[in-house]
Amino acid sequence: MQHTHTAASPDNQGFSEAPYAAPPKKKRNKWLWIGLPLLLLAIILGAVLGGVLGSRGGSNNSSDPATSSGSSNSGATSAKKAAATSVAGGVGSTATGANGQVYLAVSTDSYFLPVYATGTATSGYIAPTTKPTASAAAAWPADPSPPSTSSIRDHPRLIAPKYKWDALNSGLIAKDPYLTYWNSTIVANASDTLNDPLVPYTEDGGLSGSGVLDPAREIKMKVKNWAYAYRVTNDTKYATRVKAELWSAAGNDSENPFGTDNSRWNPAHFLDLAEFSSAFAIGYDWLYDFWTEDERTALRWSIVNLGLEYGYDALVNKNSTFWWTGGSSEINGNWNCVCNGGLIMASLAILGDDTTGRAQAVLDAAVPNAKANCMQAVHPDGTWAETANYWYFGTTGAAEMISALRTAYGSDQGLIDSNPAWNLTSVYHMHVQGMTSLFNYGDHGPNKYSATANSLILWADVFDEPRYALYQRDHYDSSEPWSMFWYDPSYDGAWWDGMPLDGDFSNWNDEWAAMRSSWTDNNGVYAAMKSGYLQGHQTHGDLDIGDFVIDALGQRWAGELGSGQYLATDYFASEAQDAIRWHYYRKATEGQNTILLNKLNQNVGANVTSNFGTTGDIQGAAPSYTAPSGSSAFFTTDMTNAYNGT
Ligand SMILES: *[C@@H]1O[C@H](CO)[C@@H](O)[C@H](O)[C@H]1NC(C)=O
Ligand SMILES: *[C@@H]1O[C@H](CO)[C@@H](O)[C@H](O)[C@H]1NC(C)=O
Ligand SMILES: *[C@@H]1O[C@H](CO)[C@@H](O)[C@H](O)[C@H]1NC(C)=O
Ligand SMILES: *[C@@H]1O[C@H](CO)[C@@H](O)[C@H](O)[C@H]1NC(C)=O
Ligand SMILES: *[C@@H]1O[C@H](CO)[C@@H](O)[C@H](O)[C@H]1NC(C)=O
Ligand SMILES: *[C@@H]1O[C@H](CO)[C@@H](O)[C@H](O)[C@H]1NC(C)=O
Ligand SMILES: *[C@@H]1O[C@H](CO)[C@@H](O)[C@H](O)[C@H]1NC(C)=O
Repeated sequence: MQHTHTAASPDNQGFSEAPYAAPPKKKRNKWLWIGLPLLLLAIILGAVLGGVLGSRGGSNNSSDPATSSGSSNSGATSAKKAAATSVAGGVGSTATGANGQVYLAVSTDSYFLPVYATGTATSGYIAPTTKPTASAAAAWPADPSPPSTSSIRDHPRLIAPKYKWDALNSGLIAKDPYLTYWNSTIVANASDTLNDPLVPYTEDGGLSGSGVLDPAREIKMKVKNWAYAYRVTNDTKYATRVKAELWSAAGNDSENPFGTDNSRWNPAHFLDLAEFSSAFAIGYDWLYDFWTEDERTALRWSIVNLGLEYGYDALVNKNSTFWWTGGSSEINGNWNCVCNGGLIMASLAILGDDTTGRAQAVLDAAVPNAKANCMQAVHPDGTWAETANYWYFGTTGAAEMISALRTAYGSDQGLIDSNPAWNLTSVYHMHVQGMTSLFNYGDHGPNKYSATANSLILWADVFDEPRYALYQRDHYDSSEPWSMFWYDPSYDGAWWDGMPLDGDFSNWNDEWAAMRSSWTDNNGVYAAMKSGYLQGHQTHGDLDIGDFVIDALGQRWAGELGSGQYLATDYFASEAQDAIRWHYYRKATEGQNTILLNKLNQNVGANVTSNFGTTGDIQGAAPSYTAPSGSSAFFTTDMTNAYNGT
């Protein structure tokens, strides 16, 4: 675009070009409060239209909300005080972190994002690290009997081996404030849901629509929480509740119908079948000692006949009904991760007890299929091939299969090595998270239930990057059983120390960039913009080259409309130029924060080029950060091709 627009400076008049007139200037302070949002908007629109992001640094500190609202540079001491009184998700009921440090979040804001202490002192704040066992206040013991590919671990073997339960129950939880908080939150959740009615078999748009995915995921989440609570309290009320839910979902009880015949887990919408399989796998494995021999046999019957038989038909017989296995085209997205993930969990759970041979056969076929598909859903720059929201489902499925293979066999059988870009998908997630919500382009997906960002905690371990876990542990969705086993309490440090403010994700399939004024002040400025290829996102993208979001002063000023109605005609049928999908407002160019010419959709084959630049500022150790004067970034795109030369 040729249009240029000059960014305003704090003291003048950029407002004459803003969409609304500036309010009359009464008192300086009030003017600032009212004017700042418009000013920031003008600055960033300048970036969008003219390719120049105005300086985000403050030579004039009065424009920095953190300093003008009276926070002082009291650093670690004030952080300690704040942490002692109120805390993100209660984490700081203790004043200090696991290792005597102080950079815990102090509360959660209205967007469920962590709020950090303020202060510019660096004392007590170190870069992300893993403390040596000797100097860490809390650490995992060594695995006393590591499994191998020729000898699978005893139960429990899925993600949570016995020696970890033993360590948690015999002092580790008490030594670490995060483990303490997560443990009590999970058990409280398990208690609060104990008297819920059995999850009903509620179809969404029929079995071939969205099927019974919500019931499957709700059951998986609840079984995981109840089974966890049983193992840390020994209270059988949680285990008997798992039994009631699984016996219901087995579907034999004519008084309480749960689908019909052996297809009740719904192979027609295979995600449902995979999540049911995963729920049964966790129940079978974690409560192995609780079940009688007859109960184990009954559970295995469901896992094999309602789950693995269909997995066998899909992966071994290559029945093409099951499109998610790929074949000629890669299915690099959440479907392949969730489906293989559930089947792998189910196979691992019953290996050794299974007399049908299905578990071994499905496992042997699922791992290479996931390598060729699911694992390729991270592009070379770390961006997820679908959308920022679908990242949650795909990475959760992948993390579950990778972690379960590691705990059961001591090896993920080459999954992680099949795509080194997985190391960067945590960085993708951090940059795609704005100051209110995600840069939530494209479809947002169904209810998440137990899909969280906790895979970051696993990737921290896999790639030896404590930063990923230190970031995620302060987020509200970390209170969940997987965190208890993936988290390493010897991690320490301020996750933001050393983080570049801006991120450039330049792979052509999904090119985009993010820019922010701070990692720790959610009232700062965040802008993200995309220009990636419009096809190849598992039909979850929009026609949105040039699309952007802006957060400032704790509000989203330019946002996304998200998903349309998934059950609408041909919503997912095609990404071709004439696809019905592109006639739905939320998917069409008209429904995006981009330029619309002649009310026409953008060209789905446009392959545009973009330029990104940044002054490259990096946040330091202190929790408060003010970018230096002149700090800036830009992202420009020549969008001509997207408009067919109009
Ligand atoms: C975990 O939380 C539950 C519920 O608050 C509690 O009963 C249990 O003692 C906790 N476990 C440990 C080891 O602190
Ligand atoms: C239990 O936790 C899940 C997320 O894991 C959440 O969706 C649900 O609302 C919680 N329920 C209660 C009663 O706390
Ligand atoms: C539960 O009971 C078992 C068997 O008695 C015991 O070994 C374990 O320590 C108990 N766990 C807890 C959390 O009390
Ligand atoms: C459900 O029915 C099958 C087939 O009769 C049986 O093998 C299995 O044990 C039953 N499962 C439960 C949980 O009752
Ligand atoms: C493929 O799977 C579908 C759904 O389960 C089934 O109806 C069909 O008979 C299978 N095809 C073959 C050749 O087995
Ligand atoms: C993983 O990514 C981080 C950036 O977050 C980088 O510093 C590190 O070198 C990468 N590690 C590997 C093994 O590629
Ligand atoms: C788009 O352009 C990039 C180079 O910028 C090229 O690598 C890629 O293959 C192109 N994609 C298509 C579908 O033309």
